[in-house]
Amino acid sequence: RRRPPIPSCEKSRPAFPWLDLVLAQIRYSIPEELEHGAFVGNIAEDLGLDVAKLSARRFRIVSGAKKQYLEVNLENGILFVNEKIDREELCERSPSCFLHLQVVIENPLELYRVEVEILDVNDNSPSFPWSEFNLDITESAAPGSRFPLESAQDQDVGTNSLRSYQLSANQHFVLNIQTRNDGSKFAELVLDTPLDREQQKKHEMVLTAYDGGSPERSGTALITITVLDANDNVPVFDRSVYRASLVENAPRGTLVLKLNATDLDEGSNGEVTYAFSGHAPLKVRELFSVDPYTGEIRVKGVVDYEKASVYELYVQAKDRGPSAVAVHSKVLVDILDVNDNAPEVILTSVSTPVQEDAPPGTVIAVISVMDRDSGENGNVDCQIPSNVPFQLHSSFKNYYTLVTSEFLDREAVSEYNITLTARDLGSPSLSTKKTILVQNNAPGASICSVTAFDPDSNQNAYLSYSILEGQIQGMPVSTYVSINSDNGNIYALRSFDYEQLRNFQIQVQAQDAGFPPLSSNVTVNVFGAATTEPLYCTQCGVYTWGGVHY
Ligand SMILES: *[C@@H]1O[C@H](CO)[C@@H](O)[C@H](O)[C@H]1NC(C)=O
Ligand SMILES: *[C@@H]1O[C@H](CO)[C@@H](O)[C@H](O)[C@H]1NC(C)=O
Ligand SMILES: *[C@@H]1O[C@H](CO)[C@@H](O)[C@H](O)[C@H]1NC(C)=O
Repeated sequence: RRRPPIPSCEKSRPAFPWLDLVLAQIRYSIPEELEHGAFVGNIAEDLGLDVAKLSARRFRIVSGAKKQYLEVNLENGILFVNEKIDREELCERSPSCFLHLQVVIENPLELYRVEVEILDVNDNSPSFPWSEFNLDITESAAPGSRFPLESAQDQDVGTNSLRSYQLSANQHFVLNIQTRNDGSKFAELVLDTPLDREQQKKHEMVLTAYDGGSPERSGTALITITVLDANDNVPVFDRSVYRASLVENAPRGTLVLKLNATDLDEGSNGEVTYAFSGHAPLKVRELFSVDPYTGEIRVKGVVDYEKASVYELYVQAKDRGPSAVAVHSKVLVDILDVNDNAPEVILTSVSTPVQEDAPPGTVIAVISVMDRDSGENGNVDCQIPSNVPFQLHSSFKNYYTLVTSEFLDREAVSEYNITLTARDLGSPSLSTKKTILVQNNAPGASICSVTAFDPDSNQNAYLSYSILEGQIQGMPVSTYVSINSDNGNIYALRSFDYEQLRNFQIQVQAQDAGFPPLSSNVTVNVFGAATTEPLYCTQCGVYTWGGVHY
């Protein structure tokens, strides 16, 4: 910008160019800002003029300035300040500032030059173009980053002009003062320690500019720094492990729990989305869903306690900022058992029919129960009616034996339907009923009969039957069956367990009473029948040997 011409500072043109009568030149120095009437110099005396004749000789001063800054008292010839002089107004920032006057006196005409130097006083403070600076700095800015600030200006010159800057105490910035080629100074903020928006998102400092005057003057500006967000935070789950419980068979859409991760960053840098993490097995993804926006985990499939009592859900949270990193957490979902399974009853062994002379305590059936539920829901109690001559003994948990509690009377009751009730202790309780048919055989009821024929007469034809010694499954044959020696009827002595003994053979001998006695052997096949069918003898092989004929 071109400085506008300042007449008083230009070399002034002579007021009377046709006269070249400059006789002398004098100079005064005064500080600016003097009040009206302030003494500048005794111009009459300094020019050697007679004070008494000033008026008569039409003494006057001529100035090129717009304002009549100085005046002469014609009474005493003293040059004084007529109007307060602002050096900065008069000469702006020129290092030297002069008011040029011409003194004219007539009879004879004389011309004098007077220079009045206007000295700077420190009447201006440095000032910034704005009282407040706003700077936006990203929190990712590296220490050492520079942020130039607008300079302060001081209208004064020389030592009264701007000397230095200072920054109020703060944690992050220092000031670096630079000098331009023209000698003017400006300051830049230098980041000293990194910013963290999440810790503090606004910093305020006061920048002060000082001049070199005496007394020193200063001007301030408020620097407000807004820290811009960088995606420098990952979301943080509010728990490292989440735990929830869920009743099995919970309906679809049931809320299991709500994940909550927070990201200290702002905007999309702080917007969290949720998902299963890569570890989450397919099964879990089929059973549960994660809402990406709310973090709500809901039931999606059928959750069966009997398949798994706890599920581990691996989840992740990620912000939507650039180069986002996922963080992980785990959700343990405990499945609470509901009593959705009735007890199962398994008859592992049934031995019927029962001899009516079987002693009390004879084992009829071995029963095992199981329940797929857990806890009380799977704790099973078995009962039979109390009005039957049977008892249920529990040898160990979930195993029972059904035994007779008294002698059975076939003539009174030939068969019993015993209803076994297995009931779990869940609430509500579930139960299973099973009916066991127990038939009791008549005492000595024959399961089959053998007959031998001897053509001899009397003693020699008198036959007696016996079962030859032998073993069935390690037990003497005599404990299984007996035979009526007179008529050959064979009786079962015990209940046979069809599962263990499907059939067996016995040897029956018929012997006459002759001397020497003659005998014959026959093999009898005894076939068992499954469960509730009575035992029967399907075949009595008939063989002849010697004189005995069967
Ligand atoms: C999420 O976690 C943050 C931090 O622990 C907590 O301030 C906020 O209240 C939580 N929000 C919910 C919905 O629980
Ligand atoms: C036992 O149950 C069977 C089959 O339901 C039935 O035929 C029989 O009559 C019942 N016996 C008794 C004594 O109730
Ligand atoms: C019948 O069997 C018994 C025992 O094995 C044997 O001692 C006897 O000789 C047999 N009798 C005949 C006629 O084979």
